[in-house]
Amino acid sequence: MKILVLGPGAREHAIVLALLAESASGAPAHEIVCAPGNAGIAASGVETPELAYTDPEAVAAFVEARGGFDLVVVGPEAPLVAGVADPLRARGIPVFGPDRAAAQLEGSKAFAKRIMDEARVPTGRAARVASVADAGPVLDDFGAPYVVKADGLAAGKGVLVSSDRDAALEHVATWAPHGEVLIEEFLDGQEVSLFFFADGHDVLPLTPAQDYKRIFDGDEGPNTGGMGAYSPLPWLPGGVDAFVEEITLTVALPTVRQLEAEGTPFVGLLYCGLIVTAQGVRVIEFNARFGDPETQVVLARLESPLSRYLLAAAQGALGELPAPEFSDEPAVIVVVASEGYPGDVVTGRRITGIEDAEALDGVHVVHAATRRDDDGDWIATGGRVLGVVARGADFGAARERAYDAVGRISLDGSQHRTDIAARVA
Ligand code: AMP
Ligand code: GLY
Repeated sequence: MKILVLGPGAREHAIVLALLAESASGAPAHEIVCAPGNAGIAASGVETPELAYTDPEAVAAFVEARGGFDLVVVGPEAPLVAGVADPLRARGIPVFGPDRAAAQLEGSKAFAKRIMDEARVPTGRAARVASVADAGPVLDDFGAPYVVKADGLAAGKGVLVSSDRDAALEHVATWAPHGEVLIEEFLDGQEVSLFFFADGHDVLPLTPAQDYKRIFDGDEGPNTGGMGAYSPLPWLPGGVDAFVEEITLTVALPTVRQLEAEGTPFVGLLYCGLIVTAQGVRVIEFNARFGDPETQVVLARLESPLSRYLLAAAQGALGELPAPEFSDEPAVIVVVASEGYPGDVVTGRRITGIEDAEALDGVHVVHAATRRDDDGDWIATGGRVLGVVARGADFGAARERAYDAVGRISLDGSQHRTDIAARVA
């Protein structure tokens, strides 16, 4: 198949590697282009042309200039919310990724809340406020800790969870000029990410993962884009299969059917951000794309051909497929970040040892922000730089491999968490 993957990050690297792995297992090789991709994706042998990938016109023109694709897979949320899928779908090109209207499920928290209410999906109580004056009484009604969320995409900065009422009001003041603000009931429990392929009508589940959002061990410090993840989650109430079944029936299907009924069918990856509370599972957010870094561990365990599911979703044919299969072997990812992340990041430093890390059995490295200099050396270009993914017979083995591999990588001032998957090993 001729496949275009859109996006620049580690998630797209993981998607590309999963597609490449299909050919390695004997299927005909795909012709894969990843735009704009990154230097790590290029090193995996995939063409990575420059492209303004969040611009619907530019993407449509690129696809046309390349004589079309059998499948376009949109990685990040920004191009989806910008409507990159729409003109492609209008031209009959199979696209894995919702069009602009359905991407509002991630692009607007108020839209997502309304869909959840209509579909009777379990989620926390929430109220919309338009100003600081509105917010005071609502905060007092909900009580501390306070959860305040900007409505639109805010690059991870839109959500505040704090027991400081003044900080909560200040967050309202910051975001109210940009649109509505939601105040939400605080939900206490373990977070779970569960992804579904969706074809507008049917869904098929992937397998649960947990990510580590805070920068420091013990979930201390500021939120980040994700410092690590593991899959599966052996501690889920009732076990993984029962949990997946429950979320399919109470969350994913009702949501997809609600969007279908409203004339905005959701085609792509439905990311259910869940929290397991003492009162049951609640949705804290939906995303309209694969999660990063959870995708890296979920796809590391995938045993079914990824392209089959992406294409079937894009063509409205998921109902004809069995659920995808996953290895029993757990997977762990440890993210290596630059000095200063998630604040002011020091970039431009040389990275060594990537090849040594990958020489370890069961280990591979995905690139988030690297380039190669003229000597062929790897240089860090951003906050989260690399993801070290390891599989093992059990969590203990997977962790040991992941941390052995991280130890082989040198980047001055780099940071990583040392407690990824420690709670399950
Ligand atoms: P979101 O962008 O909605 O996923 O929020 C970012 C993070 O804030 C989540 O991953 C949670 O850790 C936390 N969070 C969001 N909503 C809530 C809530 N209602 N109760 C507790 N924590 C929350
Ligand atoms: N890992 C969180 C996200 O992808 O939104």
